[in-house]
Amino acid sequence: MRLAAVVLCALLLAVNANGVDTGRGKGKGKGKGKGKDDNVSTSGCDILSAVLPGQVVWPESASYGISNKYWSQRQSEIHPSCFLTPTDTASVSVAMEILTSNSIPFAVKSGGHTAFAKGSNIGPEGVTIDLRLLNTISVSPDRQTVAVGPGNRWANISSTLDPLGLAVVGGRVSDPGVGGLTLGGGISYFSGQRGWACDNVRAYEVVLASGDIVTASPISNADLYWALRGGAATNLGIVTRFDLASFEQGPLWANTLLFDASLNSTLIPLFQNLTVHGLPSDPGAHTYFGFVRLPTGYLIYSDQFHANPSSSDPNQVPAAFEPFAAVPALVRNPRMSNLTSLLHAIEQAYGDRQIWMNVAVRGTSAQLLQDIVPLHEAHVNRMLGARGANETTITPYLTFQPIPVNVLDAMQVNGGNALGLNRDDGPLVIIQSATTWTNPLLDDAVEMSTRVFLNDVQALAKKRGLYHGFVYMNYAENTQDVFGSYGAESLQKLRGVAKKYDPNGLLQDLWKGYFKLW
Ligand SMILES: Cc1cc2nc3c(=O)[nH]c(=O)nc-3n(C[C@H](O)[C@H](O)[C@H](O)COP(=O)(O)OP(=O)(O)OC[C@H]3O[C@@H](n4cnc5c(N)ncnc54)[C@H](O)[C@@H]3O)c2cc1C
Ligand SMILES: *[C@@H]1O[C@H](CO)[C@@H](O)[C@H](O)[C@H]1NC(C)=O
Ligand SMILES: *[C@@H]1O[C@H](CO)[C@@H](O)[C@H](O)[C@H]1NC(C)=O
Ligand SMILES: *[C@@H]1O[C@H](CO)[C@@H](O)[C@H](O)[C@H]1NC(C)=O
Ligand SMILES: *[C@@H]1O[C@H](CO)[C@@H](O)[C@H](O)[C@H]1NC(C)=O
Ligand SMILES: *[C@@H]1O[C@H](CO)[C@@H](O)[C@H](O)[C@H]1NC(C)=O
Ligand SMILES: *[C@@H]1O[C@H](CO)[C@@H](O)[C@H](O)[C@H]1NC(C)=O
Repeated sequence: MRLAAVVLCALLLAVNANGVDTGRGKGKGKGKGKGKDDNVSTSGCDILSAVLPGQVVWPESASYGISNKYWSQRQSEIHPSCFLTPTDTASVSVAMEILTSNSIPFAVKSGGHTAFAKGSNIGPEGVTIDLRLLNTISVSPDRQTVAVGPGNRWANISSTLDPLGLAVVGGRVSDPGVGGLTLGGGISYFSGQRGWACDNVRAYEVVLASGDIVTASPISNADLYWALRGGAATNLGIVTRFDLASFEQGPLWANTLLFDASLNSTLIPLFQNLTVHGLPSDPGAHTYFGFVRLPTGYLIYSDQFHANPSSSDPNQVPAAFEPFAAVPALVRNPRMSNLTSLLHAIEQAYGDRQIWMNVAVRGTSAQLLQDIVPLHEAHVNRMLGARGANETTITPYLTFQPIPVNVLDAMQVNGGNALGLNRDDGPLVIIQSATTWTNPLLDDAVEMSTRVFLNDVQALAKKRGLYHGFVYMNYAENTQDVFGSYGAESLQKLRGVAKKYDPNGLLQDLWKGYFKLW
């Protein structure tokens, strides 16, 4: 995209000729271009605005509020000097070249569902690229591929595909973005048969640090294709289109069960057996299991799904889930549902503060899972202690997300992904702590306590010889070493790919806020 450079030079000349500013945007390469009185980000927005008219969203404008809407309050209270809302891939390319050649710090937002501050937003020192206008959805004539822009949310895609009897491997909730979820991995209702979302991308269209637009697929830039499957997009480039593998899909079976928490020692062994036996023996089945601490005490939830149930009668419980049918539940609502309705069933409200952390342990011991529960109770007590007598809501969750061996097998298609997992690692269970709260004064206490909890889980699992250590990017806190957890081989390979496609490490320096390779 040399064109952008030409336009940019012309612009700078014009600005200089008018005597408006001589210091802005002149820097080429790292660290330059920041004069004493210079405001790098504001000048960056000026340049972007001149080159991409109508695509810069300024703080005063009404649509700034739309772009600055994030799921976690900790992100929406960050305010960039401007947003850029590119309307097509060429605009992303032009923007990328301006940002990297002028050393302008930036962040990138797809659905904005990162929990921690600045995960997909940046302060006044930079620009946030909001991909929301890249929202095309296009089904190929042979119905095998759906090309989607990263501005889409999962419900946008399912509401297009449901009427066609098609589906893709994507998120389980309506509102998260296609971009972050797919690039980080992507646990789906369909993962038992097809692996994670990243394993079902046929091709990525990517804008590299240079502004060049490339395709990454098993036959074109195959190393980049591998690295984008759960790897380090924020070191590699901005994905402007995902070509997702699609398949014929009818209604799913779903059941949401709530139990009294005193049943934990009955239910945890059922969940653990499901992870080791039930799920691999019936790959259409999917589940997660956990605890929520309400003001009245803990409740247990078990969400159960089947992608191709043998009967259309919702009361016909798939065999894998039968053991749960014998346990008295507070709520049980088996149903047949299209994907869009399912995605809307577990929406999570905006406006609260959010944190999550996770680590994988071996799925072979119900006792380990059982003994993690008191560690979570201690975590809850620490947080409630910090709150004291003040009336403010804190809602802690402990979720077990299984990675059974059938999913690990399915991840190996087309050269495998970057996560560094194979069948021998499994079965695994991701131990995920997530907390929702409202009072910013509690931020430090919640963060500290969550880290202590995770540490306690790691220590216990290690003591039992049941530690694995994989950290799932999409549920990780910014302090966690996600890429290190993929193993030395995967990490080294990822770094090599990043060096090849961004030799000057521009994205390592300038793309702020998420997980980096160095
Ligand atoms: C309510 C809820 C439900 C969830 N359900 C699931 C689930 O079912 N399965 C699952 O696996 N995870 C799930 N998650 C976790 C989810 O995958 C992550 O929060 C994910 O990061 C969300 O993607 P996003 O695009 O909304 O986030 P964003 O915060 O917009 O992006 C996350 C990161 O990806 C980068 N990024 C985004 N788009 C691009 C792009 N096009 N090119 C390059 N980089 C990009 C961003 O810069 C940022 O670093 C859920 C989260 C929430 C809050
Ligand atoms: C620099 O940018 C920030 C954020 O937009 C703004 O608040 C500040 O006033 C700017 N400073 C100057 C000198 O323009
Ligand atoms: C996409 O989904 C979001 C939320 O899930 C919704 O607000 C928006 O209207 C949808 N966009 C389109 C074009 O359907
Ligand atoms: C999905 O299910 C909902 C609720 O039953 C229904 O209103 C909607 O029309 C369905 N959509 C499709 C495409 O079948
Ligand atoms: C788990 O079950 C045991 C035995 O029924 C009970 O003592 C304990 O309080 C339960 N834990 C929680 C968090 O409810
Ligand atoms: C474990 O799961 C298998 C397969 O679903 C099932 O046959 C068996 O009865 C289960 N065992 C227990 C103790 O629940
Ligand atoms: C609790 O309330 C007291 C008195 O209003 C206040 O001083 C303190 O900062 C509050 N603490 C938290 C964690 O909200």
